[in-house]
Amino acid sequence: MKRFQTRALISEWVRHQKATGKMIGFVPTMGALHEGHISLVEQAKQENNLVVCSIFVNPIQFNKPEDLKKYPRTLDADLEKLGKAGCDAVFFPTEKEMYPEPETTVYDFGMLDKVMEGRYREGHFNGVAVVVKKLFDTIQPHRAYFGEKDFQQLQIIKAMVRIESMDVEIISCPTVRESDGLAMSSRNIRLTEDQRRDAALIHTALKMGKERFQTHNINDIRQFVINYVNASPHLEVEYFEIVRADTLMPVAPEGDKDEKVVGCIAVYAGKVRLIDNMAFNS
Ligand code: PAJ
Repeated sequence: MKRFQTRALISEWVRHQKATGKMIGFVPTMGALHEGHISLVEQAKQENNLVVCSIFVNPIQFNKPEDLKKYPRTLDADLEKLGKAGCDAVFFPTEKEMYPEPETTVYDFGMLDKVMEGRYREGHFNGVAVVVKKLFDTIQPHRAYFGEKDFQQLQIIKAMVRIESMDVEIISCPTVRESDGLAMSSRNIRLTEDQRRDAALIHTALKMGKERFQTHNINDIRQFVINYVNASPHLEVEYFEIVRADTLMPVAPEGDKDEKVVGCIAVYAGKVRLIDNMAFNS
């Protein structure tokens, strides 16, 4: 596996590979890799000739300095996992390399970044879009792979690609879960034993919400899911919204159930914030 730390060198390597007709799949990450990340690498591997992965803890997408400080950094283990998964090249730049000057770009995503995660994490999605744009400019992949686990992020990336008229295909990949249904996340290791056990209720609640979708009123389903999770003394729902997949706008109580609809949830387990989602009608 090739290793690069500068934008110039990885750009040059990719350009050379593309000139020989290779299709490039790209997987951006912030490291602390788990099976969810590796599943993206594997899918990219199946669909392209070469896979590039980036590891960069992007400071401008953290709205709390302590979250940035606490973010796990496990570069050696990450490089080993990527090598085993058959990744061809990894890009792990320094902060100075990515942001030689302070970043000033401000995107207009309409309502996409005002709801759900956007409401609780101001500036987060602008920071995500800025770094992904820079990474796409550097690597110029044919395809880029993102997890459905971060459903709102996926919609933001698609919007950024439209706004910037970029020539990269965005591929969404299914959420990888632990055996009890908890979505894999680098934050799961911070859960206590009790919190970890009850965190599986998040996925159960979403499944039960989905089962009720065709027969129950939206407000009743919302309340049901929130109560189900909050019944655990170790969990507290921050939001649960039932939204249209394309606009992320809430579905009306007796709304059109034929649109693609997703249930999106954020839950605190102590200080650890967990997010998950589920397609309700597919
Ligand atoms: P990070 O949280 O490291 O996630 C990298 C990619 O892995 C994202 O596309 C995310 O959706 C996906 N992923 C995480 N957990 C997953 C799971 N359990 N199953 C499937 N995919 C999963 O998301 C980011 O980094 C950053 O915001 C980034 C896009 C790299 C920009 O900095």
